[in-house]
Amino acid sequence: MSSNSFIQEWVYTDVVKDHFMNPRNILSDPDYQEDGRGLEGSLACGDQMLVVIKVTDDVIVDLKWKTYGCASAIASTSMMSEMAIGMTLDEAYHLTPSMITDRLGGLPTHKFHCSVLGDKALRAAIDDYLERAGRENPFKKSVAKVICECKNITDQQIEALVKSGDVKTFEQLQEQTGLGTVCGQCKGTAGELLDELMHLYGK
Ligand code: FES
Repeated sequence: MSSNSFIQEWVYTDVVKDHFMNPRNILSDPDYQEDGRGLEGSLACGDQMLVVIKVTDDVIVDLKWKTYGCASAIASTSMMSEMAIGMTLDEAYHLTPSMITDRLGGLPTHKFHCSVLGDKALRAAIDDYLERAGRENPFKKSVAKVICECKNITDQQIEALVKSGDVKTFEQLQEQTGLGTVCGQCKGTAGELLDELMHLYGK
């Protein structure tokens, strides 16, 4: 590839480039004493993300991360780390990939899925923090999206089934949850979600 064509293909914004070249809040201390830890993604698909947090009075006072992900995953998580530090747990739990991508000035659309790992790992770290503290988790349900209205099946239930290895195919998902067996309108959305989850967690 000539340097010219490389420049033409480098379609990221200056903010993305800056965060990719100089990522903020990288975890480098092996003895970091975190209050919560979240690990998401799988090495099988090349994207794995670790986020660790320190919490004081329900505010994220520090956050570090590391990943084996691509440029988009690195830039998104670097930006996410700057946004999340200083937020309450409630605010941080509701950070979305779109909010992060907006601050980056956009990402190539085919790279958008890479940006979900950072905030997923952040939510997992908050879940872990609350679990370690023996506290109820008021946030988990608030971000669940109903995928199948007829059977009241949420994206979180589907994700749990894929992560546990109990569901690998759409047929297995239908057998275990009944999703898509009444009006059938959810089948398209559920199929896309299952593909994405299998990409991230399928073994
Ligand atoms: S919405 Fe899923 S079967 Fe109707």
